[in-house]
Amino acid sequence: MAKKNIDWSGIGFGYQKTDKRFVSDFKNGKWDEGRLIEDDKVVISECAGVLQYAQTVFEGLKAYTTVDGHIVTFRPDLNAARLEESAKRLEIPPYPQDKFIEAVVKTVAANEDYVPPYGTGATLYVRPYIFGSSPVIGVKPADEYQFRVFTTPVGPYFKGGAKPITIRVSDYDRAAPHGTGHIKAGLNYAMSLYQIVDAHNQGFDENMYLDPATRTRVEETGGANFLFITKDNTVVTPKSSSILPSITRRSLMYVAEHYLGLKVEHRPVEFAELKDFAECGLCGTAAVISPVGKIYDHGNEICFPSGMDEMGPVTKKLYETLTGIQMGRIEAPEGWIKVIK
Ligand code: PLP
Ligand code: COI
Repeated sequence: MAKKNIDWSGIGFGYQKTDKRFVSDFKNGKWDEGRLIEDDKVVISECAGVLQYAQTVFEGLKAYTTVDGHIVTFRPDLNAARLEESAKRLEIPPYPQDKFIEAVVKTVAANEDYVPPYGTGATLYVRPYIFGSSPVIGVKPADEYQFRVFTTPVGPYFKGGAKPITIRVSDYDRAAPHGTGHIKAGLNYAMSLYQIVDAHNQGFDENMYLDPATRTRVEETGGANFLFITKDNTVVTPKSSSILPSITRRSLMYVAEHYLGLKVEHRPVEFAELKDFAECGLCGTAAVISPVGKIYDHGNEICFPSGMDEMGPVTKKLYETLTGIQMGRIEAPEGWIKVIK
């Protein structure tokens, strides 16, 4: 086995086909054993539930090479549980959680040559997903589904890596009150495409979504949760029923409290409070922690004291501790690291 010849430090967050993927079929009311295959193409009915009524849910996690040369993933049990929650909301039969972890382990191991070496800043992104594959024309759930897992080596989600980004407040919502914002459904991301293209055209890196019911509270971006640091170093993260419960955010709150001795608050965050925070960041599997320097709101700018040149000091400590745990430099809490090899 030899690592692929890839410029690991130069890759961005894009799709690159790897050798193997896992697929399991749901037919006649049950999931089959599943298998690794080489073909990256999916053949389904033109009338498949996923194509007509967007019946699909997904997950995202990463495999890392640790400082001592192991290949590991981070808290895959939480992705397995969240995929189950997402599936139930869209009437998709859940994929068994233990089988999910097995499938992730098998797929990463089968693509081991694509796991970026330690210290390159790149990782292997793992994308498990389920979709309705049989025909539906009346609005109802499909009878047949596929669960698949593929991998792709990735670099930083935002160009510039640790450089602070600028985001703007979106005029459109990505989720409805009592809708699907709390699950990882493809339809939520379709809802955000117009806004992300528009934000980029206007020179912004991302959108900040406000709560869809009152538009007075901070929710999240299209692909990451927010974290804020107060002037007295408390870590604050928004709480809402229409936000995706980020595994990175939950992990960072634990790290802040138990590794760094910081106070943490998970609570509704008013938009009007933003001007009082010292630091702001986005957190997620893809984003890791990306510092936010500035928020643009219809002609008004909120500039965080941490500035546009580097991560704020508390955000940086959180980043270093979390990535230290993921890459094996810092001892992880029990059960957080799943060793693959
Ligand atoms: N919020 C949204 C909308 C996301 O797509 C993601 C990415 O998965 C996150 C938050 C971060 O979640 P996690 O930390 O579990 O990757
Ligand atoms: C992730 O962080 O895994 C995501 O899914 C975010 C984005 C790529 C959709």
